[in-house]
Amino acid sequence: MILEALNYAATWPLTSAAHRPFIRSSVNLWARANRCSADWADHERRTKAAILGAAEACRQRRTVVVLGSGLLRDVPIFELSRLFDTVVLVDLVHLASVRGWLKLKGLKNVRLIERDLSGIDALLAGEVLEPLAFLRQVPYLDFVASANLLSQIGIGVAWRLGGQPAEDDRMRQVIAAHIEGLAQLPAKTCLVTDVSYAVIDRNGLKQGTQDLMHGVDLGRSFAHWDWPVIPFGEESRDYRIVHHVIAR
Ligand SMILES: C[S@@+](CC[C@H](N)C(=O)[O-])C[C@H]1O[C@@H](n2cnc3c(N)ncnc32)[C@H](O)[C@@H]1O
Repeated sequence: MILEALNYAATWPLTSAAHRPFIRSSVNLWARANRCSADWADHERRTKAAILGAAEACRQRRTVVVLGSGLLRDVPIFELSRLFDTVVLVDLVHLASVRGWLKLKGLKNVRLIERDLSGIDALLAGEVLEPLAFLRQVPYLDFVASANLLSQIGIGVAWRLGGQPAEDDRMRQVIAAHIEGLAQLPAKTCLVTDVSYAVIDRNGLKQGTQDLMHGVDLGRSFAHWDWPVIPFGEESRDYRIVHHVIAR
């Protein structure tokens, strides 16, 4: 609790006013990731392997952008920093703990951008939804990785819209815009995202499932696996929640 409060307080002055409301969820993610580190290890290893495999296949390695870089738990940051001239990390919030860790490791070619990647403001203003258009301004962009971000974009939009009737359709729109945005980039891309989850009881029976992509087809994946996001005891002793993840 004390460490969480310190991380929160240290992140506050480093974060723009518009993004400060998101510090709490980043700190919560940090705390949960620490508690569940053994259960999440395989997922993190597989995500890193998928991103690194795609990065190594790039002919030119000048600039890489990681979308949803968060806590850098599932991002092969050392390898990307070594392979590319510049590494750009984009997230709503970069925690003080992450900033400090990057400094400590001396990763001098890493840049941080604080940005909302959902496009929700454009959506609410009735404008064209191009949440990744800013990447066209990134010089020498050779590779973009979307690292376990996409489902969170949908969830964040649902939260902002607060249960309005058109919510599902809007979630579909922002998810589709991310896929479309990646497809339009003049760079190699790698998308890793959880696409669904199942609530499973003590007898191994599925008590419910949820499509996190809201019907948007992601096309063919080259790898997939399960991520036990909420193991027994984290939220309840009676159930666990397992997310299904794809790499594309
Ligand atoms: C499941 S975490 C990804 C973990 C991260 N790749 C890591 O290695 O720790 C999802 C990340 O997406 C970020 N995120 C959620 N919604 C976002 C948005 N609209 N724009 C930018 N980042 C967002 C969160 O802040 C969080 O860091």
